[in-house]
Amino acid sequence: MWDQLWVDVRLATVVPGAADAGLIEDAALGVAGGRIVWVGARSALPAAPHQLAHEVRTGGQRLLTPGLVDCHTHLVFGGDRALDFDLRSQGVSYAAIAAAGGGIRGTVARTRGLSAEELAALALPRARALLAEGVTTLEVKSGYGLDVATELRMLEAARLLGRQLDVEVVSTLLALHALPPEFSDDRAGYLDQVINELLPAATGLASQVDVFCESIAFTRAECARVLGAARDRGLAVKVHADQLSDQGGAELAAEFGALSADHLEYTSAQGVAALAASGTVAVLLPGAYLMLGETRRPPVAALRAAGVPLAVATDLNPGTSPCTSLPVALTLARAQFGLGASEGVAAVTRVAAAALGLGASRGTLETGKRADFCLWNLGHPRELGYWLGPGACHVVVREGRVRLVEGAVEGRPS
Ligand code: NIG
Ligand code: FE
Repeated sequence: MWDQLWVDVRLATVVPGAADAGLIEDAALGVAGGRIVWVGARSALPAAPHQLAHEVRTGGQRLLTPGLVDCHTHLVFGGDRALDFDLRSQGVSYAAIAAAGGGIRGTVARTRGLSAEELAALALPRARALLAEGVTTLEVKSGYGLDVATELRMLEAARLLGRQLDVEVVSTLLALHALPPEFSDDRAGYLDQVINELLPAATGLASQVDVFCESIAFTRAECARVLGAARDRGLAVKVHADQLSDQGGAELAAEFGALSADHLEYTSAQGVAALAASGTVAVLLPGAYLMLGETRRPPVAALRAAGVPLAVATDLNPGTSPCTSLPVALTLARAQFGLGASEGVAAVTRVAAAALGLGASRGTLETGKRADFCLWNLGHPRELGYWLGPGACHVVVREGRVRLVEGAVEGRPS
């Protein structure tokens, strides 16, 4: 007997290449031991529902999709940057704010004094907001500590959040984000500290390493040093690439076999070709594009034509993307970057899972995958990435456990 059988659902498998995100009308989904054991048309079930599973649940003709994967967030931080945003609305640029000691370094100043428990408590409502809208796997980056102890506390906070909310958190050491003020005259010294102290200390707490390759952050050569050291330790790598200017960030990501290259607004044709050749996922971050008033779009048509897989994430962070909803980020990506309906659903499920190296175990509704899925108050996959606000998520199931019903997150008691 299976543990659960869901019937009366319109199910989007999100398998590659299928029309309408693999929609099966009047479908059924069986769950046992936290895994999907059966998917298909209800009429093809091998027996009557109550003979197959201990618990039969009806979806009321709602849309069932794989659980969403938010593959790029910076949700652990102190303070906020509402003042930066106000300055930007008065015409001061992100780069000018950063040069004056605000921006990322402003958040660093407000993060360093906090314990892991305090950081987790501040991040909890943001994480809950993501989960309440369908996220079942979540990436969290460090990068607002910029010293060994605070970076480790950020990673510890991410681990605490995962435990508290009973959700899988993939932790990323954002080793190069900004040059900390105490190293302003010694870039090489900071890189040495990252490579010789931070990377060894964070291995085990983080499974991925990220770098911000940008004129206001770190050069391609500096990033390459850290990515090489990360790779030597067996860590997966990713790159904040070509967000504000073309730094060859996409080429750098490809050179190191990165799981993903993220942002990509200024990526060139060579960068697109390099990503295609390396099989690196392009992660689009429409919240940052919107909030920075950016007008240059990532080369989505060229990426698509080259066969680069496209993911979408919130980039939830205080400076450029205070976005706590992955469905809203998807709608922004569809409106601003021209993603299609099926492409969009895959971008927040199957492809986002691949951007975390988790494509084998999640991101589609297929037998053998983790039973992570969402039931939406929607009737068709094209409606995911259409609404520009919350309210569509009805039930979230993680590893076969019903974790949320209409806005009430069933996490572990905090
Ligand atoms: O993804 N680009 C760099 N990192 C973040 C912004 C971080 C910040 O401004 O605090 C991003 O947009
Ligand atoms: Fe980011």
